[in-house]
Amino acid sequence: MKIYRANIVCTPTPKAFKMIPRGYVCVSDEGIIRCVCETLPREYESLPVTDYGDRLLIPAFYDLHVHAPQYRNMGMAMDEELLPWLEKYTFPEEAKFADKDYADKIYRRFIHELWMQGTMRSAVFATAHTQATKHLMHLFESAGLGAFVGLVGMDRNCPDNLRNTADEVRTFYEQCAESSAQQDSPSLVRPILTPRFIPSCSKQMMQAYGELAREYRLPVQSHLSENRSEIAWVKELEPEATCYGDAYNRYGLFGQTPTLMAHCCYTAGEELDLMRRNGVYVVHCPTSNCNVGSGMAPIRRFLREGLPVALGSDVSGGHYLSMLRIIQYAVQISKLYYADTYGKEAFLSLSEAFWMATKSGGSFFGRVGSLEEGYEFDALLIDDSYLNFDHYTLEQRIERYVYLGDDRDIRVRFCRGRELAEPVM
Ligand code: GUN
Ligand code: FE
Repeated sequence: MKIYRANIVCTPTPKAFKMIPRGYVCVSDEGIIRCVCETLPREYESLPVTDYGDRLLIPAFYDLHVHAPQYRNMGMAMDEELLPWLEKYTFPEEAKFADKDYADKIYRRFIHELWMQGTMRSAVFATAHTQATKHLMHLFESAGLGAFVGLVGMDRNCPDNLRNTADEVRTFYEQCAESSAQQDSPSLVRPILTPRFIPSCSKQMMQAYGELAREYRLPVQSHLSENRSEIAWVKELEPEATCYGDAYNRYGLFGQTPTLMAHCCYTAGEELDLMRRNGVYVVHCPTSNCNVGSGMAPIRRFLREGLPVALGSDVSGGHYLSMLRIIQYAVQISKLYYADTYGKEAFLSLSEAFWMATKSGGSFFGRVGSLEEGYEFDALLIDDSYLNFDHYTLEQRIERYVYLGDDRDIRVRFCRGRELAEPVM
């Protein structure tokens, strides 16, 4: 058992931050939180305590939509909307991952920055290259970070040097299943089915994905209703589908196993009903939606309808890996949406956006994302002393940290109870 003492701040519900000033978190040797309390229970009184003084202990962050091979393009190439942006900048960059040395160089930097920014688990798109994708999984394992990693499937409307086949996709996931069967404890790094989006995947490819989902109970991630031209193209390509979401659903790739759908800027009507019925996660990517000029997702409506909503950086549509910036953009975009709808939809509160980046996103990985009994201990120790120069309350401190803080304020990072050292770049 390990015991930590600090100012504990988390969001058990989206409504408000829960704060325990100078509280205790007791963590089992397996990395599970056994108690979170103001005073230590008698049975633990004699155990040593790691006292972090006046610092903040918060849940770690979860990025539920990010493209590792687009890391080199982060913060540039923002002069096009989605479809030309993919052709002009994204596909040529991803094609470079046929080269294992290049993949090693970029993936190491990517993982180093996830660690730096306090993103302890993520849902990641790799590329269509099997070897580089396996290497990415291996690098996550070595770093001790959690991840769902997907080999990106694409066999139409893409350059030849990025095309793979349903058979290659099948082989990759079968091999993943074999190696996980040989492990005794649940791995932090797991495979996720990743058809890029409907325009990239033929019927045969989608059928293969549907079979893999059923057979191995694998989760799914993809893109949905991000951009108007994309939606019109899907209508043309898949005339039998009743909506974009149905083009996944008809293959059993829309909540039949746990499913993440990034963007959903234009999701409404039948598509929204289907997502709610099937428990499909919306992954809101507000920085990306700005940079690629996609649109404003109706997040308040999704919350009201009871859809699970998480946040994603969508690098390099998004320009930054820090989930602090994503939380901030989520609130700010919701305020533009509020103004745009004449106040019909209330904007997001900071605690709601923080909850999406922690407990709601974390729920995709299990009992993860909050500092509560029974949760895996994923946490960040924050030293905000340079921001906290007067009599701020804990609530004001967390608000200032989200808006003004950055990775330099993170002193210690825990994933499933383990303190993570800086990964080798
Ligand atoms: N839709 C299909 N591929 C992509 C991608 O790489 N990024 C974004 N933002 N949308 C996509
Ligand atoms: Fe994306």
